[in-house]
Amino acid sequence: MSGKIRLINGNGLRVDGRRPNELRSIKMEVGVLSNADGSAYIEQGKNKILAAVYGPREVHPRHLALPDRALLRCRYHMAPFSVEERKSPAPSRREIELSKVIKEALEPAIFLEKFPRTSIDIFIEVLQADGGTRCAGTTVAALALADAGIPMRDLVVACAAGKVDGVLVLDLNDIEDKEGEADVPVAYMPNLGLISLLQMDGSLTIEEFNQSLNLAMEGCKQIYKFQKEALRSRYVTIKEEVEECLR
Ligand code: CDP
Repeated sequence: MSGKIRLINGNGLRVDGRRPNELRSIKMEVGVLSNADGSAYIEQGKNKILAAVYGPREVHPRHLALPDRALLRCRYHMAPFSVEERKSPAPSRREIELSKVIKEALEPAIFLEKFPRTSIDIFIEVLQADGGTRCAGTTVAALALADAGIPMRDLVVACAAGKVDGVLVLDLNDIEDKEGEADVPVAYMPNLGLISLLQMDGSLTIEEFNQSLNLAMEGCKQIYKFQKEALRSRYVTIKEEVEECLR
């Protein structure tokens, strides 16, 4: 966080040409893998992330089974080719932490108590990373859970806001994350109005923190529309396929 690189130009635009409160371009697709119970793919700026869900299914090893609810497990993993400098395929401390953080962001949304003694396993594969992968990973994992037909209280959608060159900005990319002053990732359940992830890296005043939180929540509400649309198109396609078979 050196602040040496100029991240906001004379016109108030960011390094990738966005205005401060603008999201990166987003594409989502649901049901992209045929062998998983549920799956989804997201592109958010240069991030490319795949999520697969298995379950509810028998727990292995069996002693991990919980008597009153499903065991939720999450693995966030970055492909060796996902970042500029080859990343070891072995799980790093950061990936172990992000796996835990994403699991805890998704957990409140799932009716785990409906599936005692089973497990629900989420695999998040970052194919290309450009900042904010914990947020995009959470957003795409929620879609994969919905695609697996797992009953949920709400979708979970995540987005970061932060500060670069003294300006509060939405949805930081890699360089803004690394060179900016602060980053506040937020996971949000829009219908329940609940926050399930709130982190902060860097430094902000209380006023800036509150503004960043509101900005991130606004970003989440916009991304939520893409999530709903991706689910809708998936089920329109399934309906069309079923109609075709019946013809
Ligand atoms: O991705 P997110 O912002 O949630 O997590 P981070 O730990 O703040 O990482 C920020 C960015 O650093 C990632 O999105 C990657 O673009 C980059 N990174 C990297 O270049 N090499 C790594 N081994 C890990 C992260």
